[in-house]
Amino acid sequence: MALDLFEAAKAAQARAHAPYSNFQVGAAIRDDTGAIHAGCNIENAAYPSGWCAEPSAISHMIVAGGKHVRELLVIGNSDVPCMPCGLCRQRLLEFIEDTQAVTVHLAHPERGIIKTLTFADLYPHVFGAKELKS
Ligand code: THU
Repeated sequence: MALDLFEAAKAAQARAHAPYSNFQVGAAIRDDTGAIHAGCNIENAAYPSGWCAEPSAISHMIVAGGKHVRELLVIGNSDVPCMPCGLCRQRLLEFIEDTQAVTVHLAHPERGIIKTLTFADLYPHVFGAKELKS
């Protein structure tokens, strides 16, 4: 049931600081304990200094003591699903044990969840901690 993730991401999206792109994004992570951590994108007048919603959510998870991402929901206002960018896929991978077991939902604030896939489908052929150590 991803309604709780949807509501958390939607509330975070409403607080996005995105005055330059005007593209507000929210992300919500369910960690391995079931706790939810949300975040929004935070842009900056020096454009490369801004960051996406996903690292905001990851940061909240880490500070709260969460270790692993089990489920993710990203919400944006675009007609097509708001896909996590390449950099964020790698950032998320750092906190995923089994990419096949992590569900990713892509949502729109009015249309609800519009696409669901596994993290393995979203980001195949990864280079993460396991590959580094092998
Ligand atoms: N953005 C995110 O927050 N997450 C994504 O996965 C895609 C893009 C943000 C970054 C920037 O603030 C705005 O969307 C436009 O690219």
